[in-house]
Amino acid sequence: MTTRNRQNARTARFGADTVALVTGGTSGVGLAAARRLLADGARVVVCGRDARRLDTAVAELAQQAEAAAAGGGADRVLGVRGDTASVADLDAVMRAVRDRFGHLDIVFANAGVYAAAPFEEITEDDFDRAVGVNFKGVFFTVQRALPLLRDGGSVVINASSLLQRGRADATLHSATKAAAHNLARTLAAALAGRRVRVNSVSPGYVETPMLAGSDIGDAQAADLRSQTAAGRLGRPEDIADAVAFLASEEASYVTGQDLVVDGGLHGCAV
Ligand SMILES: NC(=O)c1ccc[n+]([C@@H]2O[C@H](COP(=O)([O-])OP(=O)(O)OC[C@H]3O[C@@H](n4cnc5c(N)ncnc54)[C@H](OP(=O)(O)O)[C@@H]3O)[C@@H](O)[C@H]2O)c1
Repeated sequence: MTTRNRQNARTARFGADTVALVTGGTSGVGLAAARRLLADGARVVVCGRDARRLDTAVAELAQQAEAAAAGGGADRVLGVRGDTASVADLDAVMRAVRDRFGHLDIVFANAGVYAAAPFEEITEDDFDRAVGVNFKGVFFTVQRALPLLRDGGSVVINASSLLQRGRADATLHSATKAAAHNLARTLAAALAGRRVRVNSVSPGYVETPMLAGSDIGDAQAADLRSQTAAGRLGRPEDIADAVAFLASEEASYVTGQDLVVDGGLHGCAV
């Protein structure tokens, strides 16, 4: 059975009126999470900056929704173009969600950029771009989603397993992810009164366009594989499964936590 068939064969995890927003849902981890949440019964909104990538992702997700047994078909999918580093764009995304679905139950603040460079060479522009997407973007995604988020909802923030170990060329990147991770903890406290759970997920090295575009070459990837208990790099679906769990009732007693999904890379020596 293929992964896709397995997804469609499962009983729905989410009710038909569940609405999930996935920022950066047009590629890699975000797209896999959108597929998973859709397969698990939710209606899904994806956002990203690139219009062509957005159209392709929405067409694929709409096809998945049409093929699934749950009612609603392609109407269960919405794509909205937007840059999460811009609060005005986030407001426009939330307006589009409100107009189409009226509310949110799940927010996966996933949009992020990889900012690797030697510490001495990082410019103010590099800093503003990385902080703008990886921290400011996450912060305001959750803040602007709040009026739509129903009590009892779930927020998942994409951090990074780089929090577990210092990496020389990741000074800026790791700091932005540490901030995003910390936000999950503090928001879990701040939103407890509304029974909104907030957690982060920390992927290891996952085979996505982001990893392919990084300076991690074949030799380093082979090293990482050999240091990973699972014996392989991560797949976007590995992270999507963790996100669906954290977003679901199965995780109703889990909040303010970070779930590391790295195949054992940082947790055990092999
Ligand atoms: N891959 C890994 O090894 C790894 C490891 C740890 C953590 N992560 C985290 O996982 C998340 C997803 O990464 P990925 O590997 O799936 O990367 P990816 O395949 O490059 O996807 C990134 C997604 O984010 C969107 N995006 C980027 N900047 C955005 C912005 N300012 N506004 C809205 N959308 C934006 C991209 O679309 P547009 O470019 O069209 O906007 C794309 O949909 C990131 O937060 C990353 O830090 C990845």
